[in-house]
Amino acid sequence: MRLVVTGGAGFIGANFVRTVVREYPSARVTVLDSMTYAANRASLTDLLDGAGLATAGLVELVEADCADAAVTERLVAELTGPDDAVVHFAAESHNDNSLATPWPFVHSNIVGTYTVLEACRRHDVRLHHVSTDEVYGDLELDEEAKFTPATAYNPSSPYSATKAGADMLVRAWVRSFGVRATISNCSNNYGPYQHVEKFIPRQITNILDGRRPRLYGSGANVRDWIHVDDHNSAVLRILADGELGRTYLIGADGEQSNLQVMQTICELMGVAGADGDPGFDHVTDRPGHDLRYAIDASATREELGWEPRHTDLRAGLQQTIDWYTANRDWWEPVKDRVEARYASTEKVL
Ligand code: NAD
Ligand code: DAU
Repeated sequence: MRLVVTGGAGFIGANFVRTVVREYPSARVTVLDSMTYAANRASLTDLLDGAGLATAGLVELVEADCADAAVTERLVAELTGPDDAVVHFAAESHNDNSLATPWPFVHSNIVGTYTVLEACRRHDVRLHHVSTDEVYGDLELDEEAKFTPATAYNPSSPYSATKAGADMLVRAWVRSFGVRATISNCSNNYGPYQHVEKFIPRQITNILDGRRPRLYGSGANVRDWIHVDDHNSAVLRILADGELGRTYLIGADGEQSNLQVMQTICELMGVAGADGDPGFDHVTDRPGHDLRYAIDASATREELGWEPRHTDLRAGLQQTIDWYTANRDWWEPVKDRVEARYASTEKVL
């Protein structure tokens, strides 16, 4: 099996490459990544060097923009085997950044996906497009409903609007040109190698760094957390047995309010408040902040026999805290820059 993994030096993509190397030792993986601020070569260094794992020569990193048609087309053209595929993770992924500077989101998420689709069309290569539950907009806090594959698209932010646009391109290329593609829409991921701009690693590394954790608004907003390895095991199931043209929802029934997650992190890290101090600060809310996401993944579970394995969020958070504690070299070089950027807009309430 030969895979081109776009965005494979980012959070989910790097974890995906690590899983593939573990589970398919003879697979050849080409990571196509433009190495934006969100990428980290250190997430792949041991695989690229072949150290510790027999991956020498099997994993390569091509530093390029997936919207660069010449490079993308050259790599996709090499995928000639029956199990070969492109797994398209590359995207600008952070909502807060999309509110400040939307253009890179239009470029990577829409033009990038268009370019990948055209290369797959020209060379008749199987594509899996990785997308998000945010394309469906948000749910009320007090309703029972969850997102299903039939839910209408209703994105809120520049990030989710560009992901919705990318999904629509994939659907159109399947219908109009017969591109052999599947789509997955997953909920909020957590785990190792996640950039410290994101909610969970930001709070963990703030505490490790002696800074106060930061909760947007009241913290009532609900996210549906899934461990990154469960997301990736579902992607591998879809690649193996997914029906072409289909959309699969991925989630692990991990709904929690941001306040609950924050309190658990503070408790696990020993900074739970005393004397009325909760141990964290409430700060300016995100404009247009989606209230609640919740995924109904029953079709994916039933049709593909997929099950998440990390169903205890508290245990998963503890493992994630342990990883960031043990891997300071991985995140410390970018921490000050991320916090300086937040400090320019954020106010303690
Ligand atoms: P990330 O920001 O950690 O990584 C994105 C990677 O894509 C980075 O390595 C970056 O350098 C690369 N990239 C960006 N633009 C590129 C371009 N034009 N060409 C080549 N590479 C480019 O993101 P992530 O959290 O790992 O998300 C990966 C994918 O999964 C995205 O498509 C995202 O929309 C989707 N997703 C994320 C989550 C989540 O909770 N993080 C949930 C569901 C879906
Ligand atoms: O639902 C899937 C999506 O999950 C993915 O498509 C996105 O790529 C990914 O970034 C994530 O989006 P969110 O906006 O939900 O994730 P984020 O980690 O930025 O924030 C999670 C929640 O925590 C959100 O309600 C905002 C809040 N938050 C975030 C930060 C960074 C805080 O309260 N404090 C913070 O410091």
